Amino acid sequence: MFELTGKRILVTGASSGLGNHFARTLAGAGAEVIVAARRKDALDGLVAEIVGGRGLARAVPLDVTDMGSIAAALDMAGDIDVLVNNAGVTNTKAVLEQTEADFDFILDTNLKGGFLVATEVARRMKNRGAAGSIVNIASILGLRQGGQVTPYAISKAAVIQMTKQLGLELARFNIRVNAIAPGYVATELNDAFFQSEAGKALIKRVPQRRLGNLSDLDGPLVLLASDASLYMTGSIITVDGGHLVGSL
Ligand SMILES: NC(=O)c1ccc[n+]([C@@H]2O[C@H](COP(=O)([O-])OP(=O)(O)OC[C@H]3O[C@@H](n4cnc5c(N)ncnc54)[C@H](OP(=O)(O)O)[C@@H]3O)[C@@H](O)[C@H]2O)c1
Repeated sequence: MFELTGKRILVTGASSGLGNHFARTLAGAGAEVIVAARRKDALDGLVAEIVGGRGLARAVPLDVTDMGSIAAALDMAGDIDVLVNNAGVTNTKAVLEQTEADFDFILDTNLKGGFLVATEVARRMKNRGAAGSIVNIASILGLRQGGQVTPYAISKAAVIQMTKQLGLELARFNIRVNAIAPGYVATELNDAFFQSEAGKALIKRVPQRRLGNLSDLDGPLVLLASDASLYMTGSIITVDGGHLVGSL
């Protein structure tokens, strides 16, 4: 039931961070992973490591803001059983400093890009009469507010509604659409911030009093990718150490 052997899984944004870890986790659970992003050299390194560990992996170049690139990547990938719709960008700026270009950059990648990849994958699943699973990577910032990340938070709130809309409309084709909403996960990119006083204060507001580790996302990811979640669609799973239920 929790078996991923025989499933081909496309992971977008796999050249770093969460996506890189997701690809390793899914390959470790037996899936063939197709890793996608713009930085092909980083993907090639990841594929070499997975294949070196006797896993199944291939890399395809992908820019989620370009429909031609999405179609070409899916042609190269072949039939996909599961999509991990993870590619995303953010910035840190006060809302009145955010420009039209900032807003477009973040929404075009996180929302429009995620929508285009999900719907094109689903179109192809439907056309070949195959069941499938789409796992969107949202954020707790799609459910609560945080300073200096307004376009990002708006994009992630939209990803949560997109998950429910697609869950509704694609159920008739046996395509499930769910999302993981991670809290703050420790990565190399945010290491410096979480060593600062502001970063330490933020960690104190998490009921479990720690950041998430990448491995904390493994269980929900494998659940949603596998047949263990056959009766789940339109669900949002928060993985945040209780951050969203922190005391007022
Ligand atoms: N880290 C956290 O604490 C956290 C918490 C909640 C949610 N998330 C979400 O998790 C996802 C991954 O974030 P991360 O922290 O791992 O960030 P990251 O290390 O910066 O990774 C972002 C990934 O997205 C890819 N990407 C960006 N623009 C793209 C485009 N136009 N086309 C294709 N790929 C693109 C990047 O690859 P290329 O540059 O090679 O294209 C990279 O692989 C995001 O959706 C983010 O919002 C992260």
